[in-house]
Amino acid sequence: MKNIPSISIAALLIFGSIALLTNCKKDAELPYKYEADVLKLPEQPFVYRDQPLPPHMSHLQFTLQNKVTDHGATLGRVLFYDPKLSLNNKIACASCHLQEKGFADVARFSTGFDGALTKRNASSITNPADMQTFFWDAREDNLKEMVLQPIKNHIEMGMDNFDALEKKLGLLDYYKPLFQNAFGDETVTRDRIAEAMSQFLTSMVSANSRFDAAIPSSWGVQNPGALTAEEQHGLHLFFGQAQCGVCHNPNSSQDFFNETFADIGLDQNPVDKGLGANAPGMDGLFKIPSLRNIALTAPYMHDGRFATLEEVVDHYNNNIEASANLHWTLKDFNGQPVRMGLSETDKKALVTFLKAMTDQQYINDPKFADPFK
Ligand code: HEC
Ligand code: HEC
Repeated sequence: MKNIPSISIAALLIFGSIALLTNCKKDAELPYKYEADVLKLPEQPFVYRDQPLPPHMSHLQFTLQNKVTDHGATLGRVLFYDPKLSLNNKIACASCHLQEKGFADVARFSTGFDGALTKRNASSITNPADMQTFFWDAREDNLKEMVLQPIKNHIEMGMDNFDALEKKLGLLDYYKPLFQNAFGDETVTRDRIAEAMSQFLTSMVSANSRFDAAIPSSWGVQNPGALTAEEQHGLHLFFGQAQCGVCHNPNSSQDFFNETFADIGLDQNPVDKGLGANAPGMDGLFKIPSLRNIALTAPYMHDGRFATLEEVVDHYNNNIEASANLHWTLKDFNGQPVRMGLSETDKKALVTFLKAMTDQQYINDPKFADPFK
């Protein structure tokens, strides 16, 4: 008789731990619950890793599957939209990178946490997975390191003490399940912040414009009928007479930039030296930006000097300056800035073609949208 209680205690213990184990297993299968009153997130995460890609963008599949998890990108998305990442809780990445504007800013220069203006126009964010360098002067080549730059930047977010940032986010309950789901426990580290945010950026794939509909394979324009006659005229100018495609070259990735820099003769003596600030002899060279969603990302150029695409086309057509490092494509046989001689109809067609690069799905996609709303 004496043994019975200890047996039942043992049985209870065993039963209890089995129950506990099965419970744990269940929890591991289901994601940890998000704080529904703070964040609007689906119970099962959106699909970031295995996104459907059209054939001409399928080269991104490898990157997505190697670098991105759905929970990691979900955490990255919350961080991207959270003003708590700035020193005074006022500015998020998304304050300057607006989804409805192709993740660019409408202002020529963006306002940082303390009211100061950025020195350059905020870049759009489209297919960073395809980019080897970041920023107008290409000063960063590692996405994971890049994402910490705006957080500590004294104009943008001002949060240069990463110990304090880790502590601050660690005290916010809504991050606990997010870090748990993404990394297996609640610990907030700067490395995990960078990792999750770079996963989210890597997942930001834009590949559903009308131009994409015209190139269902990676072998060039296969289906020109997807474009109007005017857009097709613009396309021919883009790759022909106007030579835009020499620099904004979609051949390898259909992404409208190739990994290089150029001086397009905006100023004879550039005030902002671009790459030249760090590399002597390279004054006036800037990263060749992607033209995806370009109709949404005005104003244009590193300093946002052009308000419209018409002004951009006028620059290339007739206003190029004889800068020291002007790219050969933009010079005539005498080494002078080229005058393209595009007619009004040509210029209009070129702009219409650029507008076919808008990807409505990308700018309305809930998996890239503000989770705090
Ligand atoms: C106050 C406005 C502001 C905030 C906040 C901000 N950015 Fe930016 N972002 C900019 C500006 C301006 C540039 C261009 C800077 C340059 O080239 O020198 C830029 C450039 C970028 C680029 C480069 C894109 C390319 O094609 O090279 C990426 C990516 C980016 N930002 C991501 C982020 C992320 C992630 C955050 C949050 C951690 C963030 N930004 C916060 C204004 C901002
Ligand atoms: C020699 C290479 C080169 C050629 C040719 C070229 N571009 Fe560019 N493009 C660039 C570079 C570099 C920039 C960024 C310049 C800067 O901000 O200083 C740029 C910027 C732009 C922008 C603004 C992008 C933004 O995000 O603000 C547009 C639009 C554009 N180009 C369209 C065109 C069109 C249309 C043509 C043909 C008429 C063309 N480009 C020809 C290199 C080139």
